[in-house]
Amino acid sequence: MTLRHVLRDDDLTPAEQAAVLDRAAALKAAPFAERPLEGPRTVAILFDKPTLRTQVSFVGAVSALGGFPMVVDGRLAGVGERESVADVARVLGRQSAAIVWRTFAQSRLEEMAAFAGVPVVNALTDDYHPCQILADLLTVREALGDLAGRTLTYVGDGANNMAHSYLLGGATAGMHVRVGTPTSHQPAADVLARARQRAAETGGSVLVSDDPVEAVRGADVVATDTWVSMGQEAESDQRKGAASPFARFSVDEALMAQAGPDAVFLHCLPAYRSLEVAAEVIDGPRSLVWQEAENRLHAQKALLAWLLEQAEGSR
Ligand code: NVA
Repeated sequence: MTLRHVLRDDDLTPAEQAAVLDRAAALKAAPFAERPLEGPRTVAILFDKPTLRTQVSFVGAVSALGGFPMVVDGRLAGVGERESVADVARVLGRQSAAIVWRTFAQSRLEEMAAFAGVPVVNALTDDYHPCQILADLLTVREALGDLAGRTLTYVGDGANNMAHSYLLGGATAGMHVRVGTPTSHQPAADVLARARQRAAETGGSVLVSDDPVEAVRGADVVATDTWVSMGQEAESDQRKGAASPFARFSVDEALMAQAGPDAVFLHCLPAYRSLEVAAEVIDGPRSLVWQEAENRLHAQKALLAWLLEQAEGSR
């Protein structure tokens, strides 16, 4: 068996994704039931970008699994600058049971995985945020039951990591994934093609629309994200200002009213009220954002436990 990593959402098959979500639900009910890192073994957790939820949830997850969470400031370590990504990977792989990394280019993460010799987990790159999508899917399952056949609409920046991960992760779950985004910010063509391929296997579907009402109409889940992702700070005025290409895609009560009667609202946070989401929506009765934030812990714990099991089997 080959060593497994989760660098993007489609690294898990539909059956594997379902197994990780089942395990997350079980670990939520019994938080200390699994101790694969007993020793403690170290998990290296590197950040090249800001973090709140991801750092706290991975530290909590590794600790609960019996391990030692070693948080590394990637800028201090100078990954890819002071020494190559490949050399960092070989060092960390000798000292850790797994590596968790939040960075910029996806290619950096791929290089880490190629040289580490231990499982590597994507804790957000410019292109994908698979841990967040696992937490979101767990949250939707808790609220609405089975994921397959449900409609999940993401509105906002269709070219960012969250859009890409909803496409791949939602299609893997058999959901009908819709992206409402301006034509200037379409998802990457290769990600769309891959999501369509997955949807064809699972019975889901993929739709991209520049009409937010068409995208949201009848949806079971409405999600959005910041219009200025980490690393895009130089474009902040253009993305948030009066002429923002995303202004039509703000999730307010009028847009939520287009969704299905039991629709829930998700946001990975941090949220900017009056920009991508109205306060009445994110702070309102359909919002599950705090449950979603908590579920990062349970989902990542399950993902790590599953990956460590796979790694044992690959030896
Ligand atoms: N798209 C956002 C997600 C934050 C969790 C970003 O990359 O900054």
